[in-house]
Amino acid sequence: MARVIVVTGKGGTGKTVASALIVKHLKEHARGPILALDADPDCDLGSVLGLKVESTIGDLREDTLKRIKDLPAGLSKTSYIEAGLHQVITEAEKVDLITMGRAEGPGCYCYINSILRKFADDLQAAYEWVVMDNEAGLEHLSRRTASHVDHLIVMVSRDPLSVDCAERIVTLVSDLKNDVRRKHVLFNGVDEARAAAIEARIAPLGLERLGVLPFDPAVETCVGERRSLFELHTGPAAARIAEIMRKMEEPKPCK
Ligand SMILES: Nc1ncnc2c1ncn2[C@@H]1O[C@H](COP(=O)(O)OP(=O)(O)OP(=O)(O)O)[C@@H](O)[C@H]1O
Ligand SMILES: [Mg+2]
Repeated sequence: MARVIVVTGKGGTGKTVASALIVKHLKEHARGPILALDADPDCDLGSVLGLKVESTIGDLREDTLKRIKDLPAGLSKTSYIEAGLHQVITEAEKVDLITMGRAEGPGCYCYINSILRKFADDLQAAYEWVVMDNEAGLEHLSRRTASHVDHLIVMVSRDPLSVDCAERIVTLVSDLKNDVRRKHVLFNGVDEARAAAIEARIAPLGLERLGVLPFDPAVETCVGERRSLFELHTGPAAARIAEIMRKMEEPKPCK
């Protein structure tokens, strides 16, 4: 079964950058294929990875809802959705990308969603790693878009509201009883002193500290110029991601 990493946090805390750097690290070091899942309706992950997205799960859902009544005889709804799902996967060397796209419009999507969920579960089994870049809201957590989560990463930045959001995320995950094996905090662009102060405040949440992702001007330029982070040669952020991934591999400390 794939190991699933879900990156969450308030808007602008660096979720997409962290997700892309993790995918880049895994592409360079993991043995098996990686599925990158963009669960943000703004669909940024494809651009940051330099992958062109032709169609999204949202497009497939709308298209299926429109056509479901007039499918040609002999073509089941399940086969129709399965064929569409293959078009939604953007393939690159060692990395596939699925973009969730826009949220549902009015109408009943229960049947389509149940088929999509089944495919997503089957599909995830084909990868060594799944890395999901979440939207700023908490919708995909409440919908359990990932059936199980090995590592939930909560991003915290200089924005004090990102700490409140981290608290809400942890509460939601425990209220929903989501299948989350380990919960981590990853600080982005803060100095060690600030990270330590925030850490003291959020200690009751029981998050394992992954460290601080340093501000890296080369990352900012790359994202700003819509260039792929795969092109980035090593720098402070990519080097720190390697340490962070090593930390994630360490056994969970006993309480
Ligand atoms: N460590 C970093 N070094 C340099 N720039 C960074 C770093 N982290 C984030 N940024 C920049 O900050 C901006 C916001 O980052 P990012 O898009 O990853 O945040 P996000 O949490 O995904 O935002 P949203 O909630 O809107 O999806 C981007 O322009 C990105 O380039
Ligand atoms: Mg983002």
